[in-house]
Amino acid sequence: MLILRELQSRDREGAGGRGRTSRNRLSTQRVASDTIPATHHAKIGAMPEAEVLSTATAAILEEKIRSRRARVGIVGLGYVGLPLAVEFAKAGFTVTGIDISEEKVRRVNAGDSYVGDIPSSTLVPLVASGKLRATTDFSAVLELDTINICVPTPLRKTKDPDMSFIVASCEEIARHFHAGTLVILE
Ligand SMILES: NC(=O)c1ccc[n+]([C@@H]2O[C@H](COP(=O)([O-])OP(=O)(O)OC[C@H]3O[C@@H](n4cnc5c(N)ncnc54)[C@H](O)[C@@H]3O)[C@@H](O)[C@H]2O)c1
Repeated sequence: MLILRELQSRDREGAGGRGRTSRNRLSTQRVASDTIPATHHAKIGAMPEAEVLSTATAAILEEKIRSRRARVGIVGLGYVGLPLAVEFAKAGFTVTGIDISEEKVRRVNAGDSYVGDIPSSTLVPLVASGKLRATTDFSAVLELDTINICVPTPLRKTKDPDMSFIVASCEEIARHFHAGTLVILE
């Protein structure tokens, strides 16, 4: 737990742009820490260094998710992304939604839902309590532990999915990406 608290405080330093360096340095310290679950110890002993680091990072992320301290990001706040963001926030996570639509970001932050399944009365307390916020600024990725990508994948005339929205969002995410972040493509 000591290491995790140190990680959190250094993550906050990272808001000034140094997060990536801090996290990379910490990943080496995590190997020796007792924050790694006992079930991982035998495996870690037999692993090369790179795998040990990723196992330790995964264990820390898992602990953050279980304790609801993981900072969750949703990229694309549409019919899939907004309900997902709301469910994470209701489950106790602090959620940041990222969308290129200034209108959607404004409406989320105003507690004004545009998705039929989500009443504004559900959105308002989550926004007011700071559990859910939205932004167009992808630098928010610096502060996130997990990212769910929920951007459109419309079918082309050929019936192949148009991947350009995924590519565009991933390029933005990559500009601020850091080790230890879980990315899920919905
Ligand atoms: N809607 C459904 O019932 C459903 C069901 C299963 C799977 N899906 C899949 O989920 C994904 C999202 O679907 P949806 O219905 O929520 O789409 P949607 O069009 O309602 O929402 C997509 C959101 O992504 C935003 N966006 C577009 N490009 C972006 C970018 N580069 N960066 C950040 N945000 C961006 C848009 O502004 C929009 O708010 C699609 O791949 C879809 O195939 C949807």
